[in-house]
Amino acid sequence: MTDLAIAATGLRKSYADKTVLDGIDLTVPEGTIFSLLGPNGAGKTTAVKILSTLITADAGDIRIGGHNPATDPQAVRAAIGVTGQFSAVDGLITGEENMLLMADLHHLSKQEGRRVAAELLERFDLTEAAKKPASTYSGGMKRRLDIAMTLVGDPRIIFLDEPTTGLDPRSRHNMWQIIRELVSDGVTVFLTTQYLEEADELADRIAVLNDGKIAAQGTAEELKRLIPGGHVRLRFTDPAAYQSAVSALLEVTRDDEALALQISSDGSQRDLRSLLDRLDAAGIEADELTVHTPDLDDVFFALTGPANIPSQPKEAVR
Ligand SMILES: Nc1ncnc2c1ncn2[C@@H]1O[C@H](COP(=O)(O)OP(=O)(O)O)[C@@H](O)[C@H]1O
Ligand SMILES: [Mg+2]
Repeated sequence: MTDLAIAATGLRKSYADKTVLDGIDLTVPEGTIFSLLGPNGAGKTTAVKILSTLITADAGDIRIGGHNPATDPQAVRAAIGVTGQFSAVDGLITGEENMLLMADLHHLSKQEGRRVAAELLERFDLTEAAKKPASTYSGGMKRRLDIAMTLVGDPRIIFLDEPTTGLDPRSRHNMWQIIRELVSDGVTVFLTTQYLEEADELADRIAVLNDGKIAAQGTAEELKRLIPGGHVRLRFTDPAAYQSAVSALLEVTRDDEALALQISSDGSQRDLRSLLDRLDAAGIEADELTVHTPDLDDVFFALTGPANIPSQPKEAVR
């Protein structure tokens, strides 16, 4: 079993009479990307602040890199880096000066600080802009500088609170690449996002936060299987084979023109096996069989939408 970088059980936090986190459990194995997904106001930043010792929870048990923030916040702080939702970059000074300030905060020697700053500026493609005031940087450059500053202390666990909100598509993809590289170095990333695509793209595991609770948790594929909309599609070239399949199978959606049938399925191994057994028993041989899982948008709306409006399943496979 892998060690857990982050483990939290029964996390609670209220402001006045507003319950923001209503008893949530989270576990993040070392060296993986975990995404906390939720709409605006769901409590993502609150969760990050609690896990990173910036605020305390009303209740719950937390271990970050094995340390308890309630009893040993210093050990937690030494193990983590936090890039907040709102930039920590000081626009009045240069990118390099921002980096050196962080090096000072981490008590690096002048020489070591210069070395680490130069290395990280280079790594995040900021060497050219290093001597310019950070206020002149684009949104993407500021986020890169923000992450570079977070990495000065060489943290093993990094919290990124909505790192790509407001970035253009190119900068967003750039940030995804940076996050992947962090993880390939063995760092654990706790990422919050409002973008399903981002969680789907990056995260090993995703938790959907809604109404103070974790509405669902799992891999993107597991989450997609949770909601209806998944189906298996059988396509035939021989009209006679199609007709006999229609009569043999109950509860199918037919597409007579395409000679195709849809059978609802959660896409799980067990469900597929039972479907294949039924097809074999009825002597049905389709020319094409495809499994369609709903995408994360379907999951998100099903779990967080106030009206729970079922959406059309999107075609994942053709
Ligand atoms: N310091 C605070 N005092 C009162 N309410 C707060 C405070 N911080 C956050 N909240 C409320 O808690 C809820 C969750 O906020 P937040 O964690 O920032 O959500 P998210 O990051 O998912 O958008 C919101 O309704 C917000 O208004
Ligand atoms: Mg937030």
